[in-house]
Amino acid sequence: MSSTDLEARIAAAPHRFRVLTGDRPTGALHLGHYFGTLANRVRLQDLGVETYLVIADYQVITDRDLAGDLPGHVRELLLDQLAAGIDPARTTIFTHSAVPALNQLLLPLLSLISVAELQRNPTVKAETAATGTRAMSGLMLTYPVHQAADILFCSATVVPVGHDQLPHLEVTRTLARRFGERYGPVFTVPEPLVGAAPTLLGVDGRKMSKSGGNAVELRATPDETAALLRRAKTDGDRRITYDPVARPEVANLLELAGLCLGRPPADLADDIGDRGAAALKAVVTDAVNDHLAPLRRRRAELAADAATGGLDEVLARGNDHANLVAEQKLDQVRRAMDMAYGRTGLRSSA
Ligand code: TRP
Repeated sequence: MSSTDLEARIAAAPHRFRVLTGDRPTGALHLGHYFGTLANRVRLQDLGVETYLVIADYQVITDRDLAGDLPGHVRELLLDQLAAGIDPARTTIFTHSAVPALNQLLLPLLSLISVAELQRNPTVKAETAATGTRAMSGLMLTYPVHQAADILFCSATVVPVGHDQLPHLEVTRTLARRFGERYGPVFTVPEPLVGAAPTLLGVDGRKMSKSGGNAVELRATPDETAALLRRAKTDGDRRITYDPVARPEVANLLELAGLCLGRPPADLADDIGDRGAAALKAVVTDAVNDHLAPLRRRRAELAADAATGGLDEVLARGNDHANLVAEQKLDQVRRAMDMAYGRTGLRSSA
């Protein structure tokens, strides 16, 4: 189904859908995350779609040996999500590491896919190439299956993804179907929901990324934001025009301001006209700082609250709920596979 059709069906009956998505906890989120996925999650939640967010801590060690300050990364990720409007009363936020039954789903799912199929996965190939000479670990090869477990344990029907994650969703759909064919209908086959937002570039003109040092973090101060955007790459043409092909850096700044102001980038270009890159950067800086001001205010309040255990409680409640749901699903899986005797006894399973 196309994402446009899916959007229309969600809008008509949000309560009939369930969303799962998530992030690796590798640091604070930036504007690319915000416009790429975070704002969309909040929108779906606010429409009334039941939402699950995985903090994919086991995924952090797929492409690196050391996870860094994991508690700190989880904290920053939680603060960003809550400040952006994720409401823990309506959305279940949990970590892989606290939900054993989810992780156990990997075992039956792994039996349903071949090594060759995993090796063909384009996203795994791309990520492996990006890690350089490091040998591919078993976890890297199988992480699409882990991601399938994230999606299938909670019977998610909709997974908001970027284009790069579509092959993973195909793995999930295949595994759900294969399990159904072999053991019976336990898993729901989910649909991808591909976001409409453009991919934002960083201030150096490359893809905005945490590790690139080219991204405006949501938690940055207005002054830090201004300093970073002043450094943004532009070109020598004083007249500001919206031309994504010929002038990608200028177009990117116009798109960013447009997203913040809810205005078409070409209109903003007309407004700025001959006033040049400095005026453009001033417009973008004000737009970003104004748009993020309420989020940053909430973030500061939440951070103060965190000192008294507010975040711990959010995570504990999310993990409790995820555990309940995962144990139920694992139970259904055991029954379907005729492996429930550990609970029900050997005689009753015949
Ligand atoms: N792989 C995603 C990322 O790189 C995070 C993630 C983990 C995820 N499990 C998921 C996304 C399931 C969607 C569905 O950030």
